[in-house]
Amino acid sequence: MITMDDIIREGNPTLREVASEVSLPLSEEDIALGKEMMEFLKNSQDPIKAEELNLRGGVGLAAPQLDISKRIIAVHVPSADPVAEPTLSTVMYNPKILSHSVQDACLGEGEGCLSVDREVPGYVVRHAKVTISYYDADGQKQKIRLKNYEAIVVQHEIDHINGVMFYDHINEANPFSLKEGVLVID
Ligand code: CO
Repeated sequence: MITMDDIIREGNPTLREVASEVSLPLSEEDIALGKEMMEFLKNSQDPIKAEELNLRGGVGLAAPQLDISKRIIAVHVPSADPVAEPTLSTVMYNPKILSHSVQDACLGEGEGCLSVDREVPGYVVRHAKVTISYYDADGQKQKIRLKNYEAIVVQHEIDHINGVMFYDHINEANPFSLKEGVLVID
């Protein structure tokens, strides 16, 4: 089971590497890893398990954060309605941004990361909408369009497999300055 001890923190060079594509058909190992990553996210969002295992809550995790330089990400975004299905819950192998909106967006509260043990204030400007292709755990090619919060989460995780940290997008001199027309998501 993945715990916080398995997650590497900023300063570890693996977080700055461009991760390698996984080979298809997927290996048992890569499928098992994806399952564990998803289990971690679910545990981290379960108040009882999170407390028991001392997990910080997370909606996304990328394999490089486990010191595994592979293009695998997991995202688990719960619905605002607690009894509804999660709005996005999937493991993506070799995810790729095929296209994106001209419109940019950022989270009003900024972003955090399980590999960053400090608050880094500032707007992290990303694309408001993205079309992503990826392979699912069954090795099937998938294509999805995401917008707003889900789009931001997936872009944060895809950054990890490209060696990019969220704060690389923050305007250092003026962390809360925004160009006109950027959508702020609350
Ligand atoms: Co992160």
